[in-house]
Amino acid sequence: MYDRIEYMEKVIISPSILSADFSNLKSEIDAVKNAGAKWIHIDVMDGHFVPNITIGVPVVKSIKKSTDLILDTHLMIENPKKYIEPFSKAGADILTFHYEACKNSEEVKETINLIKKNGVKAGISIKPKTQPEEIYEFLPLADLVLIMTVEPGFGGQEFIHDCAMKIPQIKEHAPENLIIQVDGGINNLTGKICKSLGANSLVAGSYIYKSDNYKKAIESLL
Ligand code: DX5
Ligand code: ZN
Repeated sequence: MYDRIEYMEKVIISPSILSADFSNLKSEIDAVKNAGAKWIHIDVMDGHFVPNITIGVPVVKSIKKSTDLILDTHLMIENPKKYIEPFSKAGADILTFHYEACKNSEEVKETINLIKKNGVKAGISIKPKTQPEEIYEFLPLADLVLIMTVEPGFGGQEFIHDCAMKIPQIKEHAPENLIIQVDGGINNLTGKICKSLGANSLVAGSYIYKSDNYKKAIESLL
C-alpha cells in the first residue's frame, strides 16, 4: 500500500464516484480504472457535517471487494473518530477527515493517530472558510492534506479561486512527501491552476463522470 502510493505518477487523479451512476457502480469504477485512474474518491456524507447523505461503511466494503483501486475516502462527517475503525475494516486505503469536525487540536491528533494505528493513510481536510495556518501543526503528522475548493456537500459546484491560494501556503509548511489534494470544481483549467500552485492530487467528479470519454477527461488533468 505504501509503495503503491509512493510510486504513483506525479499527479494523482482521484475520480469522485459521487457523480457516477450508482446503479452501475462496479462498471463505473472499472471504467475509470480502464481510463487510467489508480485511485477512486469516495465521498462519505452524514447529513450533519454537510447537508447531504451519501455513502456508508457497507458500500465501501462492497467497493473494496470489487476493485483493486486505492480507496481515497473523504469523510464529511461529525465525530470522525468514531468511524475510523469501521471504515478501516471496510477497506479504506486513505481516510481524510475534516479539521472542522474536531473539537480541539488534541482530537485532531488523536484522529490522525487512530487512522495510522489502523494501518491506513491519514488525510486532513479544510473547508473554504478555514485558514491554512490553522492546520500547519498537523501537517508533519498527516500523509495527505485536502484543500476543499467548494463548500463540501455536493458535486458539480463552481471552483472557488481564492481557495487555490492556500496551496502554496500549505506547501511551504508541509513535509516534502505530503500529498496536497484539491477537491471541488476541478476541470482541465482549474486543475492546471492547482497543479501550477503545487497540488499533486486532483479530485474530479462531474468533469470525469459527466464527460463522454473518461480517458480523455482523465488525461486532460494529468
Ligand atoms: C464535494 C465532494 C467532492 C465532489 C466533487 O463535497 O467532496 O468530492 O464529488 O465534485 P465535482 O468534481 O463535481 O466538483
Ligand atoms: Zn470529496
